[in-house]
Amino acid sequence: MSKKVLIIGAGGVGSVVTHKCAQVPEVFSEIILASRTKAKCDTIAAQLKRPIQTAQIDADNVPQLTAFLKEHKPDLVINVALPYQDLHIMDACLAAGIDYLDTANYEPPELAKFEYKWQWAYQDRFEKAGLMALLGSGFDPGVTNVFCAYAQKKLFDEIHTIDILDANAGDHGYAFATNFNPEINLREVSACGRYWEQGEWIATEPVSWSRVFDFPEIGPKKAYLLYHEELESLAKNIRGLKRIRFWMTFSDNYLMHMKALQNVGMLGIEPVEHKGQKIIPIEFLKTLLPDPASLGPRTKGKTNIGCLIEGVKDGKPRKIYIYNVCDHEEAYREVQSQAISYTTGVPAMVGAMMMLTGKWRGKGVFNMEQLDPEPFLEALAKHGLPWHVKEMPIETPCQ
Ligand SMILES: NC(=O)c1ccc[n+]([C@@H]2O[C@H](COP(=O)([O-])OP(=O)(O)OC[C@H]3O[C@@H](n4cnc5c(N)ncnc54)[C@H](OP(=O)(O)O)[C@@H]3O)[C@@H](O)[C@H]2O)c1
Repeated sequence: MSKKVLIIGAGGVGSVVTHKCAQVPEVFSEIILASRTKAKCDTIAAQLKRPIQTAQIDADNVPQLTAFLKEHKPDLVINVALPYQDLHIMDACLAAGIDYLDTANYEPPELAKFEYKWQWAYQDRFEKAGLMALLGSGFDPGVTNVFCAYAQKKLFDEIHTIDILDANAGDHGYAFATNFNPEINLREVSACGRYWEQGEWIATEPVSWSRVFDFPEIGPKKAYLLYHEELESLAKNIRGLKRIRFWMTFSDNYLMHMKALQNVGMLGIEPVEHKGQKIIPIEFLKTLLPDPASLGPRTKGKTNIGCLIEGVKDGKPRKIYIYNVCDHEEAYREVQSQAISYTTGVPAMVGAMMMLTGKWRGKGVFNMEQLDPEPFLEALAKHGLPWHVKEMPIETPCQ
């Protein structure tokens, strides 16, 4: 089997995807890494033990990207640029007849709002073209969706509630930095929270609800309720679900900086006039903050991301935590990136492998939980992200 893959985006995640694809030549026999800044692709290529092709591409230029795809004829495009590029890359894939994969759902640049509706609207076009688009093949969304599908298939007869937990106990030593693209990260965290219960979406004030969870290998950590994109597809696809929420840990220091930046308008996405020039505050802030790809050599500690799931198995109540722990320093030793990029890049490679080997096939647009979780989870553990299922005590009301 000889397959060619085009990876678009040479940031923190793009670097890990490229390293991981290069480790599996029996699936990814040819790799092209293309991004807005070619020098970044060349830096990544120089770290690898086998040659790959690199190229400059502006993924927002659909005719140029379509021509590039027609010329190079990859079997799959892995989109690890930014969510703003999703629809443009999907358009080019349709025009050139090529399968598509990404790790984050579309977000319009001028609106801090992410929803699947824009990408789900491509269902008929991908289906009619006989093509497959796999959405959200990172960790969360991505592995968290697959954990839920696995729980539905193997661990429960009925699932009642899901709490997705994302803890990062890593320390990069900077006063303030984000672990992935600062613009996308700060737009996500400073937005209103939202969770789903009994068919309704319930909104909360930004980072206003918190709970302490005891994370295996990390210990107790305060996590805040956020809206996160996998809630939308899982609420639709997990049968009989009554409630689903998403929680992420932040240090008091991170929240203090974010609040101060928000209060002075630095998270603004509308242009402001500055000395006769229009600037978008959050874009300027990105220029000032450390590049997430540079955090690798400085970050110590671990991440723990998983799903706390409650329901019924064989007539008895059951509660489990299914999770992965990833060590920032180990990730850096292997692929020269910290664990946030690693936990996103490995599942992107594994999702691509599922598509290219035919283990996951279909026509249309798919979320991860719609496909068989077992081959994915087997490959995930083999390629650097082992996972575990922990039985949790059932809390009974006071007698
Ligand atoms: N599902 C998950 O678990 C998860 C977790 C973390 C991140 N993500 C997603 O992963 C993606 C990448 O994140 P990251 O941290 O690697 O971001 P990043 O470091 O900012 O990298 C983004 C890359 O995309 C390139 N790019 C931007 N616009 C482009 C365009 N128009 N054409 C071609 N290339 C373009 C950038 O080029 P320049 O170098 O020229 O700026 C950069 O190399 C994001 O969509 C993020 O939301 C998903």
